Amino acid sequence: MSIAVRAAGPADLDRIDSIEGASFTTDRFARRNLARMLRGGCTQFLLGDTDARAGGYLALSLRKGSRVARIYSLAVAPDSRRRGVAEALIEAAKRLATAQGRDCLRLEVRAGNRAAINLYERLGFRLHDRRNAYYEDGETALVLQAPTGPHAEPDNAEHDPL
Ligand SMILES: CC(C)(COP(=O)(O)OP(=O)(O)OC[C@H]1O[C@@H](n2cnc3c(N)ncnc32)[C@H](O)[C@@H]1OP(=O)(O)O)[C@@H](O)C(=O)NCCC(=O)NCCS
Repeated sequence: MSIAVRAAGPADLDRIDSIEGASFTTDRFARRNLARMLRGGCTQFLLGDTDARAGGYLALSLRKGSRVARIYSLAVAPDSRRRGVAEALIEAAKRLATAQGRDCLRLEVRAGNRAAINLYERLGFRLHDRRNAYYEDGETALVLQAPTGPHAEPDNAEHDPL
């Protein structure tokens, strides 16, 4: 299936807000925060489309002076899942991070979010840290990281499953 990934802007607020609302019940971005981030600053939004479905989005934080690019949020609308949209968004984020001179891509994920952890592990993310009671409901966050940059090699070393 072909997935088109493009940069998103303020005109995409309704769509991103609706994907966010359909994907998260807690710890979701408020619409006004999405609007503010889409207006500019150091967060880059990417949208992934499959045919006529709602698709998904990824928010990538590229803070000046940092060697680390951080995935702030990733969500795919329920009707667009298991079609490779998230994978395409993450690969695009890796290319963007590399183009911006970052050494790695980092993110937090709920320790119980098996779908997302499978996805990240398959794309080369490994455990970097663990934050207890990180989320509103007290769940632990796993901090995962993948190398980026022109010489980034996939980490094929043996590792404990996440
Ligand atoms: C997690 C999420 C982003 C995955 O998006 P997606 O577009 O369906 O993912 P992809 O189709 O690119 O999946 C790629 C791989 O990830 C893993 N994966 C994705 N969804 C999975 C699921 N429900 N169960 C198990 N593994 C899953 C699989 O390895 C999959 O490959 P496969 O389909 O060949 O088995 C999506 O389920 C989602 O938006 N969930 C709610 C929000 C969320 O949890 N965001 C992440 C916050 S850190």
